[in-house]
Amino acid sequence: MNLPAADLRSDTVTRPTPAMLAAMFQAPVGDDVYGEDPTVRALEAETAARFGLEAGLFCPSGTMTNQIAIKAHTEPMSEVICEQTSHIYLWEVGGIAFHSGASVALLPGDRGRLTAAQVEAAIRPENVHYPITRLISLENTHNRGGGSCYALPELEALADVARRHHLPLHLDGARVFNALVATGQDGREYGRLFDTISVCLSKGLGAPVGSVLLGSKAFIEKCKRIRKVMGGGMRQAGYLAAAGLYALEHHVARLADDHRRAQQLADALAARPYVTEVLPVETNLVIFRLADTMPAEQFLAHLEQRGIRASSFGPQFIRFVTHLDIDDAMLARVEAALAEL
Ligand SMILES: Cc1ncc(COP(=O)(O)O)c(C=O)c1O
Repeated sequence: MNLPAADLRSDTVTRPTPAMLAAMFQAPVGDDVYGEDPTVRALEAETAARFGLEAGLFCPSGTMTNQIAIKAHTEPMSEVICEQTSHIYLWEVGGIAFHSGASVALLPGDRGRLTAAQVEAAIRPENVHYPITRLISLENTHNRGGGSCYALPELEALADVARRHHLPLHLDGARVFNALVATGQDGREYGRLFDTISVCLSKGLGAPVGSVLLGSKAFIEKCKRIRKVMGGGMRQAGYLAAAGLYALEHHVARLADDHRRAQQLADALAARPYVTEVLPVETNLVIFRLADTMPAEQFLAHLEQRGIRASSFGPQFIRFVTHLDIDDAMLARVEAALAEL
């Protein structure tokens, strides 16, 4: 019997469900560059409402929503404060320099999380030698931090620093719904704290494509022009937006299942003698370290032969990600494969 492979590389690998595809086929559409696509407008309004922000902008990717926001908040010779392993810095092709001509102040986080005191200390004083601090950017959940989440008081303290220094606060919320489900926080609390939020639909939510940038009406108007110059103005994008709307309605609460399965994987890994460290699991990402006696290539090849795929995440580090297309039967196969080694 040819069982489906368990693809644990990322939550971006999911395929639309039949019901999501049906919603996409039925979407009313129009030319979104003319502002005439009703499904895109509905998605932008619905996502904004969930976070209590005024407006949204549908874009092809989370990289684009982040980079548009950074460009709109900064100017050349200014600086963005962020964590040193944040996606905006590490995995967006140096886009902050390329698109915005801005510098970065990189801070070491606790599994990706920054403290208010750290951020406040990194704000540049007036001095002709320095770039001007223009933006504070956080990531929640934090990818490289193993899906770690901020507690609300920590976010409130960070937002307080931003306000006192008249700096905007951006959130890379590629997996913000994972954070909300794991902590029981409400998205509207985030709207009070953050000026702009990038929300991905194509990660845990299981849509094939798309992210929404959220902010004030005036900010999003400015961002529309930046999206256009980046080539991100899409036409009958409602077919894609329909998948996002469907995901918001049907795929948020179920993230708790992904989190439970990630914890189950972490427990199985912790019991294996060839695993030396498993980062605490808070959401759907499991990052672990293999003993030097178990080369990462050998471990990955063993899994691959059993139809299981995972990502290498630095020397001897591996990442497993649970998502919509991983079920309990697949999990049992992964656990069996781990026990064989
Ligand atoms: C934390 C984080 N931010 C942003 C992105 C970028 O999203 P995209 O792949 O849609 O450009 C990712 C992608 O995995 C991510 O993990």
